[in-house]
Formats: sequence, structure tokens, C-alpha cells
Amino acid sequence: MATIQLRQVEKLFGEFQAVKPMDLTIQSGEFVVLLGPSGCGKTTTLRMISGLETVTHGDIYLDDRLVTWLHPSERDIAFVFQFFALYPHMSVRQNIVFPLQAVGASRETIERRLSEVVDLLRIAHLLPLKPGKLSGGDKQRVALARALVRRPAAFLMDEPLGALDAEFRESMRAEIKQLHIEQEATTVYVTHDQVEAMAMGDRIVVMSDAEIQQVGTPAEVYYDPANLFVAQFIGSPGMNLAPGTVAGDLLSLPGGNNYRIAPEWQETLSNTQNGAADVLLGFRPEAAEIHVAGELSGEVYATELHGAYKMLHVSLQEEHDVVHIRSDRQADYPIGAGVRFDLKPDMVRFFNPHTEAALLAKRPPPVSRREVVFT
Ligand SMILES: Nc1ncnc2c1ncn2[C@@H]1O[C@H](COP(=O)(O)OP(=O)(O)OP(=O)(O)O)[C@@H](O)[C@H]1O
Ligand SMILES: [Mg+2]
Repeated sequence: MATIQLRQVEKLFGEFQAVKPMDLTIQSGEFVVLLGPSGCGKTTTLRMISGLETVTHGDIYLDDRLVTWLHPSERDIAFVFQFFALYPHMSVRQNIVFPLQAVGASRETIERRLSEVVDLLRIAHLLPLKPGKLSGGDKQRVALARALVRRPAAFLMDEPLGALDAEFRESMRAEIKQLHIEQEATTVYVTHDQVEAMAMGDRIVVMSDAEIQQVGTPAEVYYDPANLFVAQFIGSPGMNLAPGTVAGDLLSLPGGNNYRIAPEWQETLSNTQNGAADVLLGFRPEAAEIHVAGELSGEVYATELHGAYKMLHVSLQEEHDVVHIRSDRQADYPIGAGVRFDLKPDMVRFFNPHTEAALLAKRPPPVSRREVVFT
């Protein structure tokens, strides 16, 4: 399996910059997800890696081989698309073995590889059928089989589950991850669904506006977003943000709230005199703990039962500055009731409201990374 390296890879369509110069290294056997909103350049990046799209500037390496100008067929990479892209007039069997026939593999190799992938994906019963007879999930299994049968150095998948309904998507997600674990194949997987990215990626490359915002493990992008875009794009809802003004070791927040700044943040925050709002305080909904003697207070604006827990929308000040707080599913909060809460110190983050970048503590707090289920 191969390492994939992008060095200052850029794509222009005429004057339009679809991908700004990008550096990225994907390790051999890694499952990397490109995540970002529509139009941010995910597909273009993937197509440049595959060779389906030319690179305007920069270079792409597969292991130590420079492949920037090689034809897709010379790169030893398999591509799985969102819309199954099967040949409708061929049977499932013919569809799967087609890439091997195209490179003149022996009959024996073809039979052996076919039976391996068919077992792996449990689709033996589909072999004689035409694609038109298959469900969406089965079509995508066949498309995966056709990619796997080649034993490529790397797999590229562009929203391969996007056309499936929600129930199928979840089981196929697990199947693709399982296949990856069994094959240890270097995989680059594109999605705009952050839940899918969190569930599948060894690392996530968060993109927006044609550039990388952050590269990190799911826990890193969730707990330690590099900037406001990542803080809000990851998580459902995204990270809570409240504007604050630093005064000594207190942070003054909307609604007359005062938050005592932990010692490890004091030096960083004392350097943030930007004007009205010195910093944005950020915390995930599960970082707040409701408590009668809590340090901060607000008013219940709305409540939503999410099954395992209740999500409270709490306004810090007269229906403004609403933050989301995860609370016990059985707790009963009337709209308009006051609530007090504390923030778990190791889950509090700060951002510069002008540059939008995360601030760094002088002494980073230990992070309890196991506490949260991503939902
Ligand atoms: N062949 C092309 N010619 C001109 N512009 C293009 C071309 N292909 C893509 N673009 C533009 O480049 C930008 C990035 O497109 P791309 O398809 O990579 O986005 P994406 O992140 O995959 O989005 P989506 O989630 O909608 O698939 C978009 O603004 C798109 O309109
Ligand atoms: Mg796309």
C-alpha cells in the first residue's frame, strides 16, 4: 500500500481557484477523510490524485514516485464514485472482472481475485444479475468489489454512500471501514457529512474555501478545532461560542456573567485587547454541567429530547447569545426558567474573533478525550 503526498498542489479553472496550494501527506494504510461544505474543492482534490483532473501547479507522489503527469491507468489507484458507475449491459460478474480483463490478467488470477472479493463483500448471489436489478446498497458493493479486485495501491472514494438512504448508509459505513481494516488499503474518502467523517476517518482533513482548515484525528478536530470554521462545522450543533471581555482573571460574558479564567489561560488572554469582544469562549454542549450553584447562568429558551439526552438551548441574555447544553434526558426544564451551570475546565477553548484562530494555552490542559460520543 502506498503513501500519497501532495506538495503545493493547486487547481485553477481559468481564473477560478478551485484548490489553493495544498500540502498533505497520507500515510500508507491510513483512512483519511476530506470533509467540507459543497464547492470547497474535495472532488477536485481527489480527481487530481487519481489523474482524472490535471494539476495546475505542484506535485503528487505515490510513495516516492512522481505521478503528477501520469495517466490514471498508470497510477495504480482505484476510484469509487457516488453514483455507482456500473456498466448496465454487463452482469455483476462481468462488471467486477472488467478491470482485470482490461490489463490482460490470466483466467486463473481473475477467478481467484473474483472469489476473494465476492466472499469479502458477500455478493456471490448477485453475480449473474444485471445492475438494474440491484438495490442501491448492492450496487455500491459491486462498485467496491470492482475497485478491490484490482488490488490497487490506494482507494479514492467520492461520497460513495451519498446516494443511499440513511439506514443503508450506516451499515455500508461500517462495511467500508471493516474492509479497510482487513485490507489495510490507503484510502482517501470524500464526504460533506461530519458524522460520517468522525465515524470513519483515522484522520480528517477539514476543507473550506478551497483550502485546508485543519488536519487531525476525529478527537483533535472535535476538541481542539484550529479555528471558528472547524469549531462550528464539526459537531451537531457546533461548538458554543460566547463573546467575552477579559478583565484581570475574569472573563465578562453576556447577561452579566463572569467566568473565572483558569491559570493556564491567563497569560494568553491577558494579551487579547482587541476592542469590545476580546475573545470568543468556546465549549461543546457536553462541557457544561447544570448545577444549582453554577458559575454561569442563563434562561431556558427551548428544549429538545434527543433520546439519550436532552439538549437545552439557553440564552445568556434576553433571548440572545444562545448556547446548547446537554442535560439529563429526564430532567424537566420549563421554557423561561433560569439555569445555572459550570464549564468543565479542560473542555473550554478560546478564539480570536478577528483572525478566527484558536488561541493556545501556555500550558495546555489535559483533555478528557474519552468522555464523548459524537452525535
Ligand atoms: N470542470 C470545472 N470547471 C470549472 N469549475 C469547476 C469545475 N469542476 C469544479 N469546479 C468548481 O470548483 C469548485 C470546487 O468543486 P468541487 O467539485 O471540487 O467541490 P466539492 O467540495 O467536491 O463539492 P460537493 O460537495 O458539492 O461535491 C466549485 O466551485 C466548482 O464549481
Ligand atoms: Mg464533490
